[in-house]
Amino acid sequence: MKRDFLSFKDWNRDDLDSIFKRAIELKNMQRKGVVYHPLTGKALAMIFEKSSTRTRVSFEVGMFQLGGHAIFMSPRETQIGRGEPVKDTARVLSRYVNGIMIRTFSQEVVEELAGYATVPVINGLTDLLHPCQIMADLLTVIEKMGTYEGLKMAWIGDGNNMANSWIEAAGKLGFDLTLACPKGYTPDPLILGDAHKITTGKIRLTSDPFEAAKDGDVINTDVWASMGQEDEKKQRQVAFKGYQVNTELMKVAQKDAIVLHCLPAHRGEEITEEVIEGPNSMVWDQAENRLHVQKAIMEKLMGGNK
Ligand code: CP
Ligand code: NVA
Repeated sequence: MKRDFLSFKDWNRDDLDSIFKRAIELKNMQRKGVVYHPLTGKALAMIFEKSSTRTRVSFEVGMFQLGGHAIFMSPRETQIGRGEPVKDTARVLSRYVNGIMIRTFSQEVVEELAGYATVPVINGLTDLLHPCQIMADLLTVIEKMGTYEGLKMAWIGDGNNMANSWIEAAGKLGFDLTLACPKGYTPDPLILGDAHKITTGKIRLTSDPFEAAKDGDVINTDVWASMGQEDEKKQRQVAFKGYQVNTELMKVAQKDAIVLHCLPAHRGEEITEEVIEGPNSMVWDQAENRLHVQKAIMEKLMGGNK
């Protein structure tokens, strides 16, 4: 039976750990110039209803490096933008390609696509979740800290798609996560409730960024206004004032804490130039790890042997 990667819901800790392990192997192989083509003759359709730099390039290059081919589909040039039903697109694409990656607004669209597709579907970001990014973030944590176990993770800022996926991951993997979000911008309550039910760690919500960052091993943030929230930019700049990863905040974290940001970053808003360009910032490794972790996901879902 096909498997999808839509959220952390259907994935257990062993699955996720095996992807991290495989991603490290694939990264080492790529570094050594090993040619490895488990997806020869296979294709990935990539549907983008929102902008992207990292997701598009890392999936496209990832498919190329695995011996397959990726097809970029935007609503402007396809029938998706003219209202062809998702369930029809799902069944037609399944006749051509071996996997579908989709970035769109609603998580329901992704679930519907996966329900009708007979090939694996990968969530490349919705308003609700961004699971591939959190896989890359955790891979970066594992590389830098050796493990995610026993670490204190902090989330500073919006309770958005990134925050929700971090919560889902904390639920499954059991690390401590404290999120500092302003009132009115807290994460999805259902996701938080579900994670609380299964986690062996502590997931806490506060409105104080310093409380979240205190003794933190990983300090994580994201933009104040996500894609699709451009109209709220002004009011969000007021609401999020003080929710900034800056030198003062970093003083309360562990000295060797790592700073993560999924990018694109708005310097001077959620993070300062000094911190993002400073020694604790791992954002470039984090961005690179999208490639390696997604290769491991595609290999697992799309017919590699591992
Ligand atoms: N972090 C991330 O998903 O970046 P893009 O929007 O550039 O794909
Ligand atoms: N929260 C951001 C993440 C971008 C990668 C957004 O949805 O725009």
